[in-house]
Amino acid sequence: MGELIRFGVSLPAHLIEAFDESIRRRGYRARSEAVRDLMRKHLVDEQWEGDCEVIGTVTIVYSHGPRDLASVLSELQHRFCDTVICTTHVHVGEHNCLEVIVLRGRSSTVRGIAERLISTKGVKHGRLVATTTGAGLP
Ligand code: NI
Repeated sequence: MGELIRFGVSLPAHLIEAFDESIRRRGYRARSEAVRDLMRKHLVDEQWEGDCEVIGTVTIVYSHGPRDLASVLSELQHRFCDTVICTTHVHVGEHNCLEVIVLRGRSSTVRGIAERLISTKGVKHGRLVATTTGAGLP
């Protein structure tokens, strides 16, 4: 960890109270830790906007039905095998599947693949979690 710097911020009392209550519920022990995480989130978001190398996970849920959607999704992942690092498939009950696909590459590429996976017909729900390799992040 680098040098620590203290700084003062003036904010409305009700905003601080609501923030403190929120971070306490989430398990933060100190306001500094929560602010640090918010700053890192901001920097990660900025890396995504700047089309840097990023890491993302796409979680999708789809029906294990007569249409072979698993093959369609697998085909898509094979097409982008330079970016798709790995996939975990979970059989959720008798009729549903969940997949977590880990992607690494330029943010525009990762986002594009994620959108194609999520928008594939038959996918019930999907979400991209955008993070970073950590490169360039303090
Ligand atoms: Ni399955």
